[in-house]
Amino acid sequence: MFESMNSTLSYESATQGSTYPPRQPDDTVIQPGSIKPQTQDAEFLANIIARETGKILKSQTSAGDSNRCLPVVGVDRGSGWGPNSRILLDRLTQTVRRHDPRRAVITYCNERQPDTFGRLATYHQNESQERIYRGLLCGSFLDQLLPSSSVTIVTSNAALHWLDLKHRTMERVAFSQRNVHCLAKIAAIQWRYFMQNIAAELTPGGKLIVSFVGRNSAAAEHVPLQLLQLAIRDVLHEKVGPEQLDFRLAIPIYLRTLPEIRRPFQDRSLSLVLEKCQLAYQPCPYFEQFKRDRDRQRYASEFTQFVRGFSSVALMQWLHGVAPESRAQQLVSDIYQNVQARILSDPQRWTMSKHRVIVIAAKA
Ligand SMILES: C[S@@+](CC[C@H](N)C(=O)[O-])C[C@H]1O[C@@H](n2cnc3c(N)ncnc32)[C@H](O)[C@@H]1O
Repeated sequence: MFESMNSTLSYESATQGSTYPPRQPDDTVIQPGSIKPQTQDAEFLANIIARETGKILKSQTSAGDSNRCLPVVGVDRGSGWGPNSRILLDRLTQTVRRHDPRRAVITYCNERQPDTFGRLATYHQNESQERIYRGLLCGSFLDQLLPSSSVTIVTSNAALHWLDLKHRTMERVAFSQRNVHCLAKIAAIQWRYFMQNIAAELTPGGKLIVSFVGRNSAAAEHVPLQLLQLAIRDVLHEKVGPEQLDFRLAIPIYLRTLPEIRRPFQDRSLSLVLEKCQLAYQPCPYFEQFKRDRDRQRYASEFTQFVRGFSSVALMQWLHGVAPESRAQQLVSDIYQNVQARILSDPQRWTMSKHRVIVIAAKA
């Protein structure tokens, strides 16, 4: 079920037969190609954070809730190296400031890659604003990283479709099942585990407001992932040898469908109430530009840069198990060249339209 929004962004309803809930007046409609796709996603999510935080603050004030004197705490899960995380958390801070200039705000970025922390820190300097505190949390976003009932808003952009194959939840997956055929199982276990920890961290009335890549049917493919898998297979086969490597685990991404996303919320003991669960369709911004200028080289280069941007750290880590460091660098470079050549040879085949999921849930 699609509702068209100015033909650039549409929503698929989480419930059958109707749009649930109706489109909000301040939902952003994003023109593809205007800015980087993940920045667009962050801007979109930031608007939702502003709206939902505003609602929480208003209800705390009108109910005379004792929480209205406590700091507002926000955490961004899977922050990357900083700029989009800053967009999300700044919008939270600005919303609180507008509502009550005296109220303290504490924000945290959470990343599992320790080497991103230097850049993250520069994006999250305090600039000496009063009563605004910023922190960085190193660890898996699957875990509870903050005290119980202490967090007002948990957010995350473009990260929750990544699985954590080193996480302790992997102990629940039988060794023989640790291949691509059980990614769905790992994704289900980790999604539920994540929700349990978020439910513990959130203060009553607090909200989870997240966006990540999903799919509208179990058969739908993730084009950047497909490109990578083909390129990895070709390059490793040619340069490393024909051993049976499960290259499909090199980039541990799983795109959940709406029923898979909604499943943990059916358990009432979770104390998280699902308020919104939607798919937003986004055409490929690079391909939209290609349709206008027919410049294959530019298209292949920009799209490859995007693929490299989200996958190179994971790919390098995976290759460490396959080849020595110096060799791994060369293999990475060959793999992205292979990706670029594929896009160049058939731009129509390789377009990165995607379904982005937006989930809002409230702590009961
Ligand atoms: C595609 S990036 C998105 C970064 C940022 N949120 C943005 O909007 O640009 C996904 C990030 O999630 C991080 N990530 C993936 N799995 C994680 C986990 N289990 N715990 C913490 N961070 C994780 C990755 O290291 C990566 O930086």
